[in-house]
Amino acid sequence: MRGKNAVVTGGARGIGEAIAGVLAKMGANIAIWDVLSDQARDAAAALAGKHGVKAAGLAVDVTRGESVEAAVEETLGEMGGIDILINNAGITRDGLIIRMREEDWDRVLAINLKGVWQCSKSVGRVMLKARRGAIVNIASVVGVMGNAGQANYSASKAGVIGLTKTSAKEFAPRGVRVNAVAPGYIRTPMTDKLTDEQRERLRALIPLGQLGTPADVADAVAFLASDAARYITGQTINVCGGMVM
Ligand SMILES: NC(=O)c1ccc[n+]([C@@H]2O[C@H](COP(=O)([O-])OP(=O)(O)OC[C@H]3O[C@@H](n4cnc5c(N)ncnc54)[C@H](O)[C@@H]3O)[C@@H](O)[C@H]2O)c1
Repeated sequence: MRGKNAVVTGGARGIGEAIAGVLAKMGANIAIWDVLSDQARDAAAALAGKHGVKAAGLAVDVTRGESVEAAVEETLGEMGGIDILINNAGITRDGLIIRMREEDWDRVLAINLKGVWQCSKSVGRVMLKARRGAIVNIASVVGVMGNAGQANYSASKAGVIGLTKTSAKEFAPRGVRVNAVAPGYIRTPMTDKLTDEQRERLRALIPLGQLGTPADVADAVAFLASDAARYITGQTINVCGGMVM
């Protein structure tokens, strides 16, 4: 990874921040693209200080083409190239189908699915020209299994898995690999809010018997982004303690 340049969308906190941390530890320079610009800059400064890599935090909205194009130019200006793209930015706006508001459907699809296409398009162009690169998209096991109350989210994540396969086929002739990681239940501030009873019920669904951590997801992402995965493209790895087999 040393000397490679990686973009992590939504890397200002949570799973994205953990991914940026593992890639920086392996020696990659990091550009964090996030709507939370102050947090993105702080996270980047922390990585540069801790791992001695180049790191930048940019204010980017992955749903807006002009914002993503400007970020590509700025990142190329600072780092000279982009070798790795981690499409991690994502949100939930849960609700049952018959009660779901149209704006909640649209917003989740815009960030979770259109955002992945937009970044893959803008960064993909750079990678195709360089004839190398690796893209890892963050999906979710609910894109495979479905989940009551998450119609918009599960549809967006199933879409990410399909988009991963299509981009893998389109980009493979130029040496660019595209894979996905589908996390299960990961310990984040969101799942920390669950009651003990809710957490116990979740645990019972997981063969390995515990929730995952952001680091569990980040390690799988780092593998797929690295040359160790050079013969792997178009695949989705479920990082879920065995919930999906
Ligand atoms: N937490 C889980 O249990 C879990 C499980 C499966 C999949 N995931 C997926 O992992 C990814 C990260 O989730 P997380 O739990 O760390 O969430 P999080 O909310 O902590 O982090 C998401 C990040 O994306 C950023 N973001 C949101 N909209 C954006 C936009 N339009 N442009 C740029 N950045 C934007 C946010 O500012 C935030 O920093 C998401 O794609 C999520 O769907 C999470």
